[in-house]
Amino acid sequence: MTYKNEYIASTQHPDDFWLEQARNIAWFQSPEKGCQKTDSGYYDWFRGGQLNTSYLALDHHVNNGRGEKTALIYDSPVTQTTQHFTYNELLTDVAQFAGGLSRLGVEKGDRVIIYMPMIPQAAIAMLACARLGAVHSVVFGGFAANELAVRIDDAKPVAIVTASCGIEGSKVLPYKPLVDEALNISEHKPKACILFQREQLTAELNKDTDYDWHTLAENSEPASPVAVDATDPLYILYTSGTTGKPKGVVRDNGGHAVALHYSMGAVYDTSEDDVFWAASDVGWVVGHSYIVYAPLIKGATTVLYEGKPVGTPDAGAFWRMIETHKVNVLFAAPTAFRAIRKADPEGTFLSKYDTSSLRTLFMAGERLDPPTYYWTSEKVGVPVIDHWWQTETGWPICSNPMGLEPMKTKPGSSSVPTPGFNVKVLKGPDAPQAIGEKGAIAIQLPLPPGCLTTIWQDHQRFVDGYLREFEGYYSTGDNGYVDEDGYVFIMGRTDDVINVAGHRLSTGEMEEVLAAHPDIAECSVIGINDALKGQLPVGLVLLKDGVSVDEKALEQDLIQRVRDKIGPVACFKRAIVVNRLPKTRSGKILRKLLRQIAANETVAVPSTIDDPSSVEEIESIMRDKGLVREPAAI
Ligand code: COA
Ligand code: AMP
Repeated sequence: MTYKNEYIASTQHPDDFWLEQARNIAWFQSPEKGCQKTDSGYYDWFRGGQLNTSYLALDHHVNNGRGEKTALIYDSPVTQTTQHFTYNELLTDVAQFAGGLSRLGVEKGDRVIIYMPMIPQAAIAMLACARLGAVHSVVFGGFAANELAVRIDDAKPVAIVTASCGIEGSKVLPYKPLVDEALNISEHKPKACILFQREQLTAELNKDTDYDWHTLAENSEPASPVAVDATDPLYILYTSGTTGKPKGVVRDNGGHAVALHYSMGAVYDTSEDDVFWAASDVGWVVGHSYIVYAPLIKGATTVLYEGKPVGTPDAGAFWRMIETHKVNVLFAAPTAFRAIRKADPEGTFLSKYDTSSLRTLFMAGERLDPPTYYWTSEKVGVPVIDHWWQTETGWPICSNPMGLEPMKTKPGSSSVPTPGFNVKVLKGPDAPQAIGEKGAIAIQLPLPPGCLTTIWQDHQRFVDGYLREFEGYYSTGDNGYVDEDGYVFIMGRTDDVINVAGHRLSTGEMEEVLAAHPDIAECSVIGINDALKGQLPVGLVLLKDGVSVDEKALEQDLIQRVRDKIGPVACFKRAIVVNRLPKTRSGKILRKLLRQIAANETVAVPSTIDDPSSVEEIESIMRDKGLVREPAAI
């Protein structure tokens, strides 16, 4: 089927289209209904269907005689370890650990927080929760204790699953003290903390509520998969919004399984015989969808990599991985290839490895800048596909549909809307933009299966944040345009969310940390363009009247505070003292204007500005400090 036919079928007859796709997965009770309006006025998919996501990812393949096939390959250059798990082995480990969770009282609907490094036990814990119908919430290891505490208080987990340490390059990072600190800060106290001991650094289990992973799993009966409703939540994944409070994106079981299964064929052109490697982290949505769930639901082999693109040990790491594991499809962030290119511009390492197994290289997490596209395509010699998506959608909104009909690539574009996503560029409610004109990108409702169903415990925030701006549409928060061939170009965010090394971060959250400093009256955090990480946060701070400080010491203090409160992943390394910030007459800081100055764009000074001379002043300071930068690649 050509892309066009498939796209039309998916958007004009979504129920028929997705019920047909739903036949490709093994339900306990097949759904008869596609999309339906809920009491809250939103939509759900496949109500009435029953299934279990861990059953789909494991038991189903074992029952079909594929138990001896490799399900998961763990490759960890930081510990010099490689481990293969067959579907049989992974099923045994998941069922056993699920039995352990169950013994501790975890039941269907309960939440479990998973704070783990990139080890197989992270995936095992996720699948074990899914097996019990419990709702997991994975927290990325680069977040500080405070961020973990915020998520504990929001998700109210029955248990936390962690490991004794993470390994970042040559650094061994103890996890238990972070978890203990988070539990001290949080109001909610989970009943149990289960810890996987790693030999690089063991942790002391010092509370009545601490359990050792192995002891627990070994002394438990394996758990069977629990039937859940298609609409029951599978997981909550917190993502940055414009305020300090992260948003708990809720994913269902049924729509998620159907959408991911479909995407493995239509988008990634991946079969059950393929080795699929998503070089991300299980703490991000890419890790949820394409390290854990999609490849396993498809019955393919997935790769879990505990290392970096460079430095573990060198810029040949990705090529070595492809050769060693005969990777067919790779999915990574452009920043990873900018790092490789910076360390090895000629691609010398590439020539040392046989990468002939690789068919396609997918990139996401941030826009694939054309220089990185050209370099990677030329060096790797396979199609390099930019595709656009978000934590909220869980799978690509736009892509080159490699499994349906590979299309011509247009560098700078994430190609065309994926079947199911009715993408529109709007300038206002009911006002579509003309071809080639920039506007807010929205998706007509209902969204296809697999997208968020709500914000955990805050449906109103979901409605206000995503559905209010354009009636009948989901607002993506991104802007861009569509060209005459229907190709979508994503140009950036319309809000204060920034993208640092493919990680989405909230400047509002960083501002809250800076504003809490006793010497600071006001502040604004903006993202400046960076040749390696895409964007980096910079704080512009205004001191309280009469305060005089050593600016370098203040900067160090602020850097440490952001590290302590949010985590090293924020990459907050610069804060600059300014005399004033441009504001409206009502006292609102003109953040958009600051963003435009930083990106060296034409500045649109609003008529509501309090003092127009403040614009020139801040621009001059920002230029002086090297904060005005075009989007650039190396
Ligand atoms: N646990 C603990 N700390 C972590 C961490 C984790 N899981 N991940 C990152 N950090 C820390 C790093 O150690 C670093 O700390 P430091 O300031 O003390 O050095 C900080 O967070 C920033 O990390 P990172 O952004 O990874 O920077 P880097 O300089 O170490 O590496 C890249 C640069 C480009 C190689 C790296 O950012 C990268 O591989 N990016 C790809 C990201 C990606 O795959 N995103 C998924 C989107 S699909
Ligand atoms: P996250 O929810 O962390 O996956 O971040 C989603 C955001 O990252 C999107 O809203 C975009 O702003 C950005 N993004 C992700 N992929 C792309 C892409 N291929 N092109 C442009 N922006 C992207």
